[in-house]
Amino acid sequence: MIVGHPINRRDGRLKVTGRARYAAEFPVEGLAHAVLVQSTIAAGAIVAINGEVAAREPGVLGVITPENALRLRLGRAGPQVLTAPLLQNRDVLYNGQHVALVVADTLERALAAAGRVRFEYRQGEALTVMDQALEGAVVPRNFRNGERPPDSRRGEPDAAFAAAPVRIEATYTTPVEHHNPMEPHATIAAWDGDRLTVWTATQGISATQGALAALFGIDPQAVRVICPYVGGGFGCKGSTWPPATLTAMAARMVGRPVKLVLTREQMFTSNGYRPRTIQRIKLAADQSGRLLALRHEGFSQMSQPALGEFVEPVGLASEMLYACPNVAVSHRIVPLHQGLPTYMRAPGEASGVFALESAMDELAARLAMDPLELRLANYAETDPHTGKPFSSKKLRECYEQAAAAFGWNRRNPAPRSMRDGNWLVGYGMASATYPTNRRPARAAVRLGADGIAVIRSGTQDLGTGTYTVMAQVAADALGLAVSRVRVELGDSRLPTAPVSGGSSTVPSVAPAVEAACHALRAQLIDMAIDDPRTGWSGLASDALRFENGVVVGPDRRVGAGELLARANRAFIEAEAESGPGAERDAYALHAFGAQFAEVRVDALTGEIRLARYVGAFDAGRVLNAKTARSQLIGGITFGVGMALLEKTAIDAETGRIVNANIAEYLLAVNADIPPIQAILIPNDDRAGNPVGVKGIGELPMVGVAAAIANAVWHATGVRVRDLPIRIEDLIT
Ligand code: MOS
Repeated sequence: MIVGHPINRRDGRLKVTGRARYAAEFPVEGLAHAVLVQSTIAAGAIVAINGEVAAREPGVLGVITPENALRLRLGRAGPQVLTAPLLQNRDVLYNGQHVALVVADTLERALAAAGRVRFEYRQGEALTVMDQALEGAVVPRNFRNGERPPDSRRGEPDAAFAAAPVRIEATYTTPVEHHNPMEPHATIAAWDGDRLTVWTATQGISATQGALAALFGIDPQAVRVICPYVGGGFGCKGSTWPPATLTAMAARMVGRPVKLVLTREQMFTSNGYRPRTIQRIKLAADQSGRLLALRHEGFSQMSQPALGEFVEPVGLASEMLYACPNVAVSHRIVPLHQGLPTYMRAPGEASGVFALESAMDELAARLAMDPLELRLANYAETDPHTGKPFSSKKLRECYEQAAAAFGWNRRNPAPRSMRDGNWLVGYGMASATYPTNRRPARAAVRLGADGIAVIRSGTQDLGTGTYTVMAQVAADALGLAVSRVRVELGDSRLPTAPVSGGSSTVPSVAPAVEAACHALRAQLIDMAIDDPRTGWSGLASDALRFENGVVVGPDRRVGAGELLARANRAFIEAEAESGPGAERDAYALHAFGAQFAEVRVDALTGEIRLARYVGAFDAGRVLNAKTARSQLIGGITFGVGMALLEKTAIDAETGRIVNANIAEYLLAVNADIPPIQAILIPNDDRAGNPVGVKGIGELPMVGVAAAIANAVWHATGVRVRDLPIRIEDLIT
């Protein structure tokens, strides 16, 4: 078995030697370069456009504005397709909205000309600050793509709260955050008649294929999307955002292949963000700490509805994490003159569990109870929201192992009671959970006479190890050495696989790879039985095995290459589809974790350092211990950024993002991150899917911000309910 082994990432060497080709790096003959022009107002309309001056600049091939832009078939686009702003009208809905695209023979000439496109605006009143617009909050129209209502309730939360002996009530807020992958969005688009090829940085090649086909009114088979490597996505490459569509439009209009690479600054206005949230939590318990009522009201910032709809689903974990009989959850959105928000690593849970798990810590303090004991007192053995059993749940083991590794029992419960010289020392913990998502996926396998198996699936590797773990799954399913398995991904000509979002790639694609390999192995064994020279005719197929490239029978062994040669075939092939089934109805499907943080706060200056971190996770079966651990460390690091650093600052007057760069938008760097101990709890969730995995990308960042906020409270006695926690929150 190679599954589970910490083998090195297959793309590692290609990446460090610069041979892994990213979207912007494909050599395409006759390439022209595009530059985006963006609005300088947050609300209103364009009343006049002067593109003539820019058009006369040297090397300029096209100045595309709402006046002359190709008309697209907006009505045919699906929910994950951004139909605005695509230069289809003159409305301005946020500051930084795309209003023109300038194309020239070189990037420098395009850039120079882009500065000469002139707009006259009629300026409308801009609503840019969520906290001042709460009375305009509305019920989402399409929460979770219409799969469930935005509100839920069980029991009688209001009556239970009113009657309860111990109550806490607090509001928690999280800021706008941006994904900031290292690789910016980039697209190269080339038309050949009515056929379109795009190289683009995306988490979903097949979704992008469908979106572009719909918008340009062509057959999806006429669109090819290529993306072998992604330099980080975290959700901002999960939809077909306007820059990709505009690049294809520009290529069509100028009659040449066009490349558009967003600047770091444009990455703040062009591909979504994690919306600001305001969350009101009420918790009630009896004196023993048993939860009696939980209310979670979530508000998240939205754009103008013409741009689409995105709701941060902050309350979903509150429905299922604890065995509380009376629960009410609601989601509202607040339309502003801002861009459309989107999924960002652990959408909903990252923000929502910060609020819930901070509130649980406040409740523990009120009860004078250990925070971990409070979690255990409310442990949900079955999903309290749906009443279903969990496919598997090892959260108790997560708590136990993380607490032991961390040394939680050394915690003195009183805040401000632990000290090391000038450092106030704080211990904090929180729970983590994230749903296991799975969508239908296809994969194919081909075994050649050379004994090499090639796995093909139209999924993509976001940098997380998809190439590597699919090779491991295939190697075991075929009984081949992993070095005999090649993996091809990232091309929409391959069998269709879903968007890599919601930690669903492995739970979706690995079962398809495994099914295709099993089908291929069965074919090969049938070939061996049918081959007159094996003398196996009449044997049942389970009398034979295929291992290390050889069919093994009761009396002898025949190589796959020999079988293929005798049957006069260069290769055999199998393809399979796998998707969610009855397990959805039978079980609640979730991954779990426990997060423990030690912070040190300088008693005089308020400087906050994360000192130690331990997380333990039940992510189902682990396909590769090294790539899984990397995901855990990466997710926790993302969570540290959320807790202590990340915040997009927006000027209230102009609606403009003022720290649209990675010097002033603070991301966690090595110096911010202490040793992280990431523990994987052994599990094999076959009830959840045939491969037993749960998805691991988002889980580890859930609860990190709460664990750190709780540790900061324990160190200082100051409860910070607004992220990120900064020095100024702690100086009193
Ligand atoms: Mo993820 S935020 O679904 O890429």
